[in-house]
Amino acid sequence: MKKTFYITTPIYYSSGKLHIGNSYTTVLCDTINRYKALRGYDTRYLTGMDEHGQKVETVAMEQNITPQELVDYLASNTKGLWELLDIKYDDFIRTTEKRHKKVVKKIFEQLLEQDDVYLGEYEGYYCMSCEAFFTETQLNDGHTCPDCGKKTKLVKEESYFLRLSKYEDRLLKYIEGNPNFITPESRKNEVVAFIKQGLRDLSVSRTSFDWGVKVVSNPAHVVYVWIDALSNYISALGYNTDDDSLYQKYWNGDEVVHVVGKDILRFHAIYWPIMLMALDVPLNFNLYAHGWYMMKDGKMSKSKGKVVYPAPLVKKYGLDSLRYFLLKELPYSGDGIFTPEDYIARINFDLANDFGNLLNRTISMANKYFDGNVKKSTKDYFEFDKQLVNLVNETITKYKEDMDQLKVSSAILNIWKLISRTNKYIDETCPWVLAKDETKQEELNSILYNLIESLRLIGILLTPILIDASKELFNQLNIPSNLQSWDSLDFGQLDKLVVTKKPVPLFPRLDKKIEEEYIQNLLNTESN
Ligand code: ME8
Ligand code: MG
Repeated sequence: MKKTFYITTPIYYSSGKLHIGNSYTTVLCDTINRYKALRGYDTRYLTGMDEHGQKVETVAMEQNITPQELVDYLASNTKGLWELLDIKYDDFIRTTEKRHKKVVKKIFEQLLEQDDVYLGEYEGYYCMSCEAFFTETQLNDGHTCPDCGKKTKLVKEESYFLRLSKYEDRLLKYIEGNPNFITPESRKNEVVAFIKQGLRDLSVSRTSFDWGVKVVSNPAHVVYVWIDALSNYISALGYNTDDDSLYQKYWNGDEVVHVVGKDILRFHAIYWPIMLMALDVPLNFNLYAHGWYMMKDGKMSKSKGKVVYPAPLVKKYGLDSLRYFLLKELPYSGDGIFTPEDYIARINFDLANDFGNLLNRTISMANKYFDGNVKKSTKDYFEFDKQLVNLVNETITKYKEDMDQLKVSSAILNIWKLISRTNKYIDETCPWVLAKDETKQEELNSILYNLIESLRLIGILLTPILIDASKELFNQLNIPSNLQSWDSLDFGQLDKLVVTKKPVPLFPRLDKKIEEEYIQNLLNTESN
């Protein structure tokens, strides 16, 4: 039987267009999901929308539409974006759906009955823009939001609370006993330090607005966002319903991964595990919290007027360029920076020059020297052959390690080292010199064979990352589909082939100045 793999993004707030930062999580999960499918896993990929809360209610009112109309519009917008980014999700959960609300209601009542949730009084400062509550000490001068600087509102009301303190020790033990539960290490340390300060019980309901899941036993309260939102990961699998087969299969299966941004680490590393412990649901997931995409001068935020949206970039420069940039430029455990200069440089240098050109040169030479026909060659003619094959094998091994740990940026770096090495192999072996010598045809063929084998394996490794370019590479080389699979990831499996007569560049080289300006203009106009 196939091993199962279940991966989730956070569910996005219904509060407008998603920028490249939010899109990063979805692209990352898509890449990992495709990688696992390539490795033969039975995969399931969940994403969706977090549609309740005061902000939705207020914005809808301002626009003179119902909250439901607003979230319907934003959900279809977001789905459109995922289509543009070729995201292959299996399910799209929305917290306003019946299937979700039913489960949240049951969860809340169960926690209440068990006395894990109790009624108390809440006091805090609410920032509508960030959908977050703060204590007075967290605020800036003038009671403004520490995150976005806008005015906050004092809220004092009756509220239900989730008992966190009760589970502190159990959670700490679990984290210590499961070193891969929270990654990277630095985030885990953050979480442990936070728990060790002592956890205050978490407010989990509100009476000050209506747009949410009503508490069954006390409908004056709506379930406040986190119990509602976090439950999506299991409500979407039919947890605690008549048909919980997906839940049994994927949650209680082999691997479950939640991917989130660093700002919602605490919710996923503390509140969610405690909810699950209280519900007696196994803590079967691993959590990865990534950093943020920033602008050169700080945070990317709509309220501050600096945002990058994915759609215009994809329309102008293609999907693979965006996927490449996003996946490469965010390091495993830190933040990344978006600049127009870097965006164009990645396309011109990495994609067009290093990668695209390698394919193009190889195909041109195969056509020029052998009318497109390349035969198998197993003999080593040059010292460089062994070096190339060794690096291919090393790259495959590292790729597996990296991708299994969600280190996609590092996987890409290593693939590009191999691409450079393969380009260098051409310069070392000088096929154009051999071409002039009729007695060196075998050698010349072997060079092309090695180049094509290297490219074929690079194509397989890039399959989850560059969707169109990997297909295009296989097409132009005429690689049979059985040699595009993970099982064929072995140097020398290719027999013979005939490459295309008409190679098309994978990535066009761009005019640096014009395109940087284009993106800069996009930023200036889009952010208003
Ligand atoms: O937090 N770079 O939703 P959200 C990288 N509804 N990632 C970024 C980013 C940036 N500049 N800005 C935001 C919520 N993100 C909740 C989640 S899950 C049960 C509920 C990421 O729409 C952010 O870190 O505010 C988060 O992971 C995701 O976008 C969704 O943010
Ligand atoms: Mg947010």
